[in-house]
Amino acid sequence: MATDRTGALLVGSIWYTEGENVELFEKIADMQAYLAEAKARGERIGFVPTMGFLHKGHLALIRCAREDDEVDRVVVSIFVNPLQFGPREDYRDYPRDLERDKELCLSGGTDALFVPAVEEMYPEGFATHVEVTGVTDILCGRSRPGHFRGVATVVAKLFNIVQPDSAYFGIKDAQQVVVIRRMVADLNFPVKVKVHPTVREEDGLAVSSRNVYLGPEERQAATVLYRSLKLAGEAIARGERDAARLKQFIEETITAEPLARLDYAEVVSWPDLKPIESLQPGEVLLAVAAYFGRARLIDNLLVEVKA
Ligand code: PAF
Repeated sequence: MATDRTGALLVGSIWYTEGENVELFEKIADMQAYLAEAKARGERIGFVPTMGFLHKGHLALIRCAREDDEVDRVVVSIFVNPLQFGPREDYRDYPRDLERDKELCLSGGTDALFVPAVEEMYPEGFATHVEVTGVTDILCGRSRPGHFRGVATVVAKLFNIVQPDSAYFGIKDAQQVVVIRRMVADLNFPVKVKVHPTVREEDGLAVSSRNVYLGPEERQAATVLYRSLKLAGEAIARGERDAARLKQFIEETITAEPLARLDYAEVVSWPDLKPIESLQPGEVLLAVAAYFGRARLIDNLLVEVKA
């Protein structure tokens, strides 16, 4: 990885300056012992759960935790969670690069990294799952059966292990945010869930670890996702209130791109993710998922509907 003379690190087209030290824990007991000491000193924990192969979006979450007045110590987890991948999904191929991730964590101001093995998180005999119902019936929940059960289960475990005061998620995974907020409320986790806006490349593509799967032409084609959402947002600003017409408009924009294979385009209420017919004043979520080659990408736009 490139560094300049000051030791700053080049990530994509952005330079980051390194911090001092990051402690790495692979065992739950060691992570907990470290956190127990921090908590005994009255320190408040900010937590960024990730699946690694970190990018600008993760860095934004880490920085957000680092700069949060309610946080003294920043913990990042890196765990590619097998439970949230379907049998024909990319669990085995999911990009991994721990050395690069460690450098990025350092540059973002991480104090401790939790990197458990699968057997540490799911030992022989593991049999408990967390299932959030209702808000998981649509969007990615419909396309990826079992995905949010895997997400809720691992996040519940990570929350129990780290016991953070604040946890940080990107709104790019809008349905994930809704699922986690529901779980936190329903199961009384004493965690503040804090949400960061989607980080985008210059041409609008939402940053994602899966962008690495894109060939140059697919990379260009993938910009259609955000373009379709923005065009629909503009239609809403001009007065369009019919959800079916908006959905059709987004679908047509995406399918006009030959390299895109649409999974879904939906217009749903926010934050309860219910199908809607006519847009009412308040917030509405436009959400899309499509394949470009083997990369399944998602994106969304939260739009304020005026009265
Ligand atoms: O958003 C992610 O990277 C994952 O779904 C999460 C929250 C780390 C759980 O594995």
